[in-house]
Amino acid sequence: MNKKGFIFDLDGVIVDTAKYHFLAWKKLANSLDIDFTEEENEQLKGVSRVKSLEKILAWGNKTISEENFQDLMGKKNEDYLSYISEMDESEILPDVPKVLDFLIKNQQPISLGSASKNARAILERVSLRKQFDQIVDGNDVSKAKPDPEVFLIAAKLLNVSPKNCIVFEDSVAGVEAANSAEMISIGIGKKEVLGHAKYVFNDFTEISEAFLNDLINN
Ligand code: BG6
Ligand code: MG
Repeated sequence: MNKKGFIFDLDGVIVDTAKYHFLAWKKLANSLDIDFTEEENEQLKGVSRVKSLEKILAWGNKTISEENFQDLMGKKNEDYLSYISEMDESEILPDVPKVLDFLIKNQQPISLGSASKNARAILERVSLRKQFDQIVDGNDVSKAKPDPEVFLIAAKLLNVSPKNCIVFEDSVAGVEAANSAEMISIGIGKKEVLGHAKYVFNDFTEISEAFLNDLINN
């Protein structure tokens, strides 16, 4: 049996947590008198917590002390944690379990490759932890996406060479990271946004077993 490495981003690929990040960032931005729209939120997808706050402050033309910066990051995460504490299996995106089950049945190594420091907690909440052979998240990397570090660590842990890895990503930064790692990038979302991915699907319901078989065998 041919073995490839299948690497999944978390937020926006496995679960739709973007709406919770949005609510938490919006509350924080508004508390600083900064406007925060859905379009801006789109630009924060895949972006680390630190980089996200830096961007919001830049959009609002604000500079703050390092202490205040750390405080705000803590507050944002507290809000975010209160949203995700209510999550359950119903928030898993369509057909994600089906694709994971197919890959497991075909003995394919699977890793998470997420920028989030809350990734392990979320996988536990939605009861998907045991589907993953490896987890690489925001706690394991020093360079955020679009740097390929997160995916290269995942490949190493899976013991599969990067060119034999397939990455599912919903963010521009993540697709760029997968491409720089020389992995096969599969965008989950809109073609207009994820045009740099090798393949793009709206969601996992569009991904057939035949397509997965091709990825495994070619
Ligand atoms: C990414 C999300 O997966 O993780 C970003 O797309 C988020 O929106 C980033 O900022 C970091 O997440 P966390 O949970 O560590 O704040
Ligand atoms: Mg994502």
